[in-house]
Amino acid sequence: MEPIRAMIRVLGIETSCDETAAAVVERGADGRAAIRSNVVLSQIEEHAAFGGVVPEIAARAHVEALDGVIEAALDEAGVTLGDVDAIAATAGPGLIGGLIVGLMTAKALAQAAGKRLIAVNHLEGHALTARLTDDVAFPYLLLLVSGGHTQLLLVRGVGSYERWATTIDDALGEAFDKTAKLLALPYPGGPNVEKAAREGDPKRFALPRPLKGEARLDFSFSGLKTAVRQAASAIAPLSEKDVADICASFQAAIVDTLQDRVGRGLSRFRQEFPDLGDPVLVIAGGVAANTAIRQMLDGLCTREGARLVAPPIALCTDNAAMIAYAGIERLEAGMIDGDAMALAPRARWPLDASAASLIGSGRKGAKA
Ligand code: KG4
Ligand code: ZN
Repeated sequence: MEPIRAMIRVLGIETSCDETAAAVVERGADGRAAIRSNVVLSQIEEHAAFGGVVPEIAARAHVEALDGVIEAALDEAGVTLGDVDAIAATAGPGLIGGLIVGLMTAKALAQAAGKRLIAVNHLEGHALTARLTDDVAFPYLLLLVSGGHTQLLLVRGVGSYERWATTIDDALGEAFDKTAKLLALPYPGGPNVEKAAREGDPKRFALPRPLKGEARLDFSFSGLKTAVRQAASAIAPLSEKDVADICASFQAAIVDTLQDRVGRGLSRFRQEFPDLGDPVLVIAGGVAANTAIRQMLDGLCTREGARLVAPPIALCTDNAAMIAYAGIERLEAGMIDGDAMALAPRARWPLDASAASLIGSGRKGAKA
């Protein structure tokens, strides 16, 4: 018989980058998790003029918006602060100004309402989302691709991660954003590069496939970025067709190189867990919204006998439901800091503390 468990309800707060977000997530007595509210206020408009996230503007925008966003999340869920069991807030990694705003607000609310505070690693939020949306058991392989991180992680359990690969230079989302900027496409770059690529010829430019074929599992994108710049300046001024062709060729190079890297990761996963009946690859992070990448991973998993779990796009990009859910998993596992009120936010906070940090991984600092 299933053990009877109490319902758990957690308020989540996320402020590590350019989204101000709050959410209420519950796990019922039947073990099912449900998102009661998921409010995400994007700061895209505040940063668009600068072509990227400006940390000081982000921190100030979080200060202005967070209280209202939390109120909206509680209202939408039809609960008050008194009705939640705990407050989970992102304590890192990310931009320190935003982290301070989110964590300090969470501390104040926890203190005032007499609730437990759970400090959550943003990357753990991404890593566990597949267990909120799908019935995924540990262990599984995670491809985390966003503006700040590009990693293959073995997810063994709550708080137990092994980093198998990371980027040695730019993050994947960063490569999309820089390519967009170079081609004068609007910020944020990823979706606009994907849109332009749909009209373009992926074979027109022979761009490099960094690290393809290498036994080590890491990623690299800065050489590709340079090749794009050279291809573009060689034919400037660019017509709309030129831009579309460059985007299509760039995306084809990304898809090709990812297929090689992730394919190797899956082989290693199969080798390390030969008896696993249901090998799973999970994707998370903003770049997981890319249709060409999703399609490639789908084909790869089918060929490798694995199951691809791709949470809905709104839960792949930054949100607070994933932070609330990670809080629930931590509560259930008894893995919470006794002295959470004394915790300081951490700009850097790798999921796998034993993995060596590689130089320069991502514009938001070496997140892991
Ligand atoms: O996870 P996320 O919302 O924020 C963090 O960086 O943590 O990811 C944002 C990144 C940006 O670099 C954005 O350009 C990229 O994800 N992105 C995409 C697409 N949608 C968002 N990249 C490629 N194709 C997309 N459709
Ligand atoms: Zn993220």
